[in-house]
Amino acid sequence: MRVWAVANQKGGVGKTTTVVSLAGLLAEVGYRVLLIDLDPHGSLTSYFGYDPDEVELSVYDLLSGDVPVTAEGVTGLLRNTSHDSIKMIPASTALATLERKAISSQGMGLMIARALKQLDSQFDYVLIDSPPVLGVLMVNALAACEHLLVPVQTEFLALKGLERMLRTIHMINRARKNKLQYTIIPTFYDRRTQASVLSLRELHHQYPHEISNTVIPVDTKFRNASIRGVVPSDLDTSSRGVNAYARLLRTLLEQQKREAV
Ligand SMILES: Nc1ncnc2c1ncn2[C@@H]1O[C@H](COP(=O)(O)OP(=O)(O)O)[C@@H](O)[C@H]1O
Ligand SMILES: [Mg+2]
Repeated sequence: MRVWAVANQKGGVGKTTTVVSLAGLLAEVGYRVLLIDLDPHGSLTSYFGYDPDEVELSVYDLLSGDVPVTAEGVTGLLRNTSHDSIKMIPASTALATLERKAISSQGMGLMIARALKQLDSQFDYVLIDSPPVLGVLMVNALAACEHLLVPVQTEFLALKGLERMLRTIHMINRARKNKLQYTIIPTFYDRRTQASVLSLRELHHQYPHEISNTVIPVDTKFRNASIRGVVPSDLDTSSRGVNAYARLLRTLLEQQKREAV
C-alpha cells in the first residue's frame, strides 16, 4: 500500500481536484484506491454525494476515539464512490473541532497512520486530502504519507502560501526518520496570462528539484465532473486536464520505482 497526501496551506489551489483526478487514473489501471477526506469542509465527501453535515460515520469518529483502530472498526468507515475501485472515508464538519487542537495526547498525530495499517491488504493506493490549516489533521496526513503532493496555483499570491507549506514540511521532517519527499504541482495554468507564465518561471527558479514538469492547465471539465460526482477521467478520458494528470501520474509512478531500487 502506498500513501500519498495532497496538501497546501491555502484553499482553492486544486487539492481536491488532484485527489479525485489521480484516484480515477489509478483506478483505471487496475489499482484499488482509498481516499481519506481530512478537510472539515468536506469537499471530497460532497464530491461523491455525501453531506459532511449529516454523515453518520466519518474520519472524525476515528480521531475522536469513538471507533476503535481495528480492522473491523476502520473497514466500517469505508464508503462507496462513483467508481467501483475507489472507496472513501468521508469527513464530517465536526472535524473542525479537532483541527486547531494541539496534539495533546501522545500518538494523536499518528492515528491515521495506525488506521491505514489495518487496511494494508485492501488497497494499493491511499490518497489523503488535507485541510489548508496546520493542525492535528494536517499533521496526521503528513505523518501517514510517504509522498506529498503540493498543488500551487500559478499566480503570485499563491507562492506565499507555498512558502508557509514548505516551512511546515521542514518542521515535520525534523521529527521524521525518513524525510518526506514532496512534489510541487503548478495548477490553474493559463499560458495566455502573464501571472501564470511568470509565476511558473519563479517556481522553477526557486524549486528546481521539487517542481513537477507537468503543469495542470485551467480546464472547465473539472467543474463539470464535480457537478456530476464522477472522477474527471470518467467524464472525459482525453480532456487537457485529465491528460495532464495522467502525465503527472506517470512521472510519480516512475519516480517511485526509481526510489524503490
Ligand atoms: N485546473 C483547473 N482548472 C479549472 N478549474 C479547476 C482546476 N482545478 C480545480 N478547479 C476548480 O476550482 C475549484 C477549487 O478546486 P479544489 O480542487 O476544490 O481546490 P482545494 O481543494 O485546494 O480547495 C473547484 O471548483 C474545482 O472544480
Ligand atoms: Mg479541497
